[in-house]
Amino acid sequence: MSTRSVILSTGHGLPRTIVTNDDLAEQLETSDEWIAQRTGIRQRRVCQEDEGSGSLSVLAGREALERSGLTATDIDMVICATVSGDFIWPATACRVQEELGITGAAFDVSAACAGFVYAMDVAASMIEAGRVTTALVIGVDCLTKQVDWTDRSTCVLFGDGAGAVVMQAAQNTDRGLLGSILLSDGSGAKHIWVEVGGTRNPFGSPQAEGKSRCISMNGKEVYRFAVKAMGDACEKVLEKTGLTAGDIDLFVPHQANLRIITAAAERLGLPEDKIYLNVQKYGNTSAGSIPLALHEAVVEGRLKPGMTVLTVGFGAGLVWGANIIRW
Ligand code: ACO
Repeated sequence: MSTRSVILSTGHGLPRTIVTNDDLAEQLETSDEWIAQRTGIRQRRVCQEDEGSGSLSVLAGREALERSGLTATDIDMVICATVSGDFIWPATACRVQEELGITGAAFDVSAACAGFVYAMDVAASMIEAGRVTTALVIGVDCLTKQVDWTDRSTCVLFGDGAGAVVMQAAQNTDRGLLGSILLSDGSGAKHIWVEVGGTRNPFGSPQAEGKSRCISMNGKEVYRFAVKAMGDACEKVLEKTGLTAGDIDLFVPHQANLRIITAAAERLGLPEDKIYLNVQKYGNTSAGSIPLALHEAVVEGRLKPGMTVLTVGFGAGLVWGANIIRW
């Protein structure tokens, strides 16, 4: 039998501070009712000055490592999926590697809210090819540090968080990552982006003038894209793995918006009790959202060994993708 990449454990990292919709309504012209009705979000975690993607990744990575029963020397590779690393460079994965005492490869993957879906597939491909045996894969974002807190159409949507998994090579098993689909459409970049700060429009440069250093988003365009992308990616990965929606025990979608999730689940014909939701507690944590949800589903006993899980993400790029995992 060929080599499979099995998930041994999960972990999570969250900021200390909870900000509710009512808290936001004290500073902005918005309300708990508007935010909850349009998005399903009721509160989110927000990093303070001493917190960020690096520190949340270390928390998530350490917990996943402890729960795996392995030690740092067993990990061959750390991948962090993030678009909000501690620095523009070096990679946030290098901080995790250093703080946890891991040696071997460490690098980041930039695929916004689909980052964890991408990173899992990269790790699984390297494990299945025999290049590495054990990988720590983290999804993390702290987009509250990149939003304009006076822009009610974006700042209410995002929260900070991280999740992690330890993946390891296994033989003679039907568990592991069964298949992935990874997709992109760069023509949609302008629908959600941070225009200033890279090499195209460096901070303080003449070409950065009049452009925002915060997240700019065309909400309606992203909404339309997301509903279609989620459904398409799920159908494609089901077809690729020879499964049907009826084979899925738990659907763990990117937690951006309850309405987007519901539309995707309806298209697939998945009943409510098979959908994992925590968007109400955390908002959109971007690359952190799927691994954080996987971790909570495990801790709550909703995700058990042998179950078939469908994850799907979409985000800035535009990028989207899905994984099917036998847990
Ligand atoms: N509170 C109150 N009113 C608001 C708020 C707010 N927080 N934000 C916008 N409004 C107002 C608008 O100004 C508008 O008022 P107007 O009609 O007087 O102009 C009205 O509410 C309706 O606004 P719409 O934009 O039409 O609201 P819509 O129903 O489209 O919902 C939303 C907006 C929730 C942003 C939706 O478009 C959405 O979820 N889009 C997808 C966003 C997303 O998931 N982004 C993450 C991508 S992943 C990544 O990579 C980071």
